[in-house]
Amino acid sequence: MPERRPYVAANWKMHKTSEEASDFIRRFRERLPEAATRSADVVICPTFTALPAVVEATRGTGVRVAGQNMHEAESGAYTGEVSAAMIAEAGATAVVLGHSERRRLFGETDEALARKVPAALSAGLEPILCVGETEEERDADRMEKVLERQIRADLADVGGSQLERIVVAYEPVWAIGTGRTATPEQAEDAIRFVRGLLAESDRAAAERIRILYGGSVNPDNADELISRPQIDGALVGGASLEPDDFAAIAETAAVA
Ligand code: PGA
Repeated sequence: MPERRPYVAANWKMHKTSEEASDFIRRFRERLPEAATRSADVVICPTFTALPAVVEATRGTGVRVAGQNMHEAESGAYTGEVSAAMIAEAGATAVVLGHSERRRLFGETDEALARKVPAALSAGLEPILCVGETEEERDADRMEKVLERQIRADLADVGGSQLERIVVAYEPVWAIGTGRTATPEQAEDAIRFVRGLLAESDRAAAERIRILYGGSVNPDNADELISRPQIDGALVGGASLEPDDFAAIAETAAVA
């Protein structure tokens, strides 16, 4: 089985101005062992306006920067939207797509995601595609159906060779921001299922693709999750807002 390089991403959501972001990075750099970015991908996802400040503050550290969303078109009459090229120009190398908050609060659809993923790839951005079921769907035993629908639809236009350029984050909606983390078994079961779906398109790529867990990850539970063979890292919301906490999680991933 190929070694998959661990991956941790800080999803800041709508937190931190540029000044607060630069301050975070200053403290984060002091705390993060240099070796961490040699053995793991460490990614910060600030708001669009704070992208340049975070790119500048992380220069030379190996820490990468990502957008939190993008529009699928190259340009056009889409007031308030940002394209993949604009995010790449700001110095980001990745972009979060299909976060459940975008799906739930802003009407993000699988149809739009099917266009966003290839658009991100053609602009040279690594898509971090989020999938996951709601509590209601899990209770109704529909988790696998939901994951299958999201993965098949969102990656419908991604060819086999491009598949391994994608990162997937399994984020059960009921675990996001609730303090109710999925158990390592639950996370691993879902991730194994997602990897199996990806294997139907390209077996080798499915073994290489990083699949993260997200939902109430913190420095205390990061190790039991990330040390599982199927769980390649974490997408972290709340706990990524504190430099010490996110540095501790990144360090855990680097030694996993
Ligand atoms: P959380 O958020 O860590 O605060 O649960 C995770 C996410 O929304 O990506």
